[in-house]
Amino acid sequence: MLSFEDTVRLRHSPRAFLSTPLTDEQIHEVLQDAQLAPSNCNTQPWHVHIASGDTKRALTEAMLRNDELGQVTPDFSFDYADFYGDYFARSQEQAKQYYDVLGIAREDKDSRHQALLRNYAFFGAPHVAFLFMPSFGDNVRVAGDIGMYGQNFLLSLTARGYAGIPQTLLGFHADSVREILGVSDQYRLLFGISFGYEDPDARANQLRMDRIPLEQSVVFHK
Ligand SMILES: Cc1cc2nc3c(=O)[nH]c(=O)nc-3n(C[C@H](O)[C@H](O)[C@H](O)COP(=O)(O)O)c2cc1C
Repeated sequence: MLSFEDTVRLRHSPRAFLSTPLTDEQIHEVLQDAQLAPSNCNTQPWHVHIASGDTKRALTEAMLRNDELGQVTPDFSFDYADFYGDYFARSQEQAKQYYDVLGIAREDKDSRHQALLRNYAFFGAPHVAFLFMPSFGDNVRVAGDIGMYGQNFLLSLTARGYAGIPQTLLGFHADSVREILGVSDQYRLLFGISFGYEDPDARANQLRMDRIPLEQSVVFHK
């Protein structure tokens, strides 16, 4: 297992996976790690559904069909237009660097859309975890708990030699996911994590996003 220092530095979001599946035991080890995440009042509000094989294929088909019909059913809003200032600039920079790595021109809308649709094929990953949550109040704190769980999950994958990518886009099809997985509509879908072994030869996986300097995020008060 990798050290924490190596794990946190090596983790990144791969967008191309090998088809090689993880064993049930390997997936359980990752889930045990994720389960140790902290949560408000130890409520442990994560409800996780893992899809592989035919179930995963059915999900891809449903999401692609929804996309063709222009149908989305997100439980929580997401709009680039809500970002502003530096946040908006960083989101633009991320998109630019991703399309540059793929060799897709800014004005090539069709290729950009095809690249976006790879989300719904889980970037070729053999497994996907859907992170559902109950609804409490304005949902901000429970979403924070799910974020803690998700990061444990991602770091565990990396430390153990696997890889995963969190995907808000999977939450755009919450109704289809609930229907296919038989999940009650009392649970809301925050995001999914596609996971497996990263494809080391894929262009998409050359991307490494920078981080801003600490001074722009942290203020020390003494
Ligand atoms: C909650 C969450 C949702 C995300 N959703 C998507 C997504 O739908 N599709 C995608 O390609 N990347 C998605 N990302 C990946 C981010 O683009 C990525 O984390 C960011 O650019 C930093 O890159 P890194 O993870 O490689 O360090 C998401 C990340 C987070 C934390």
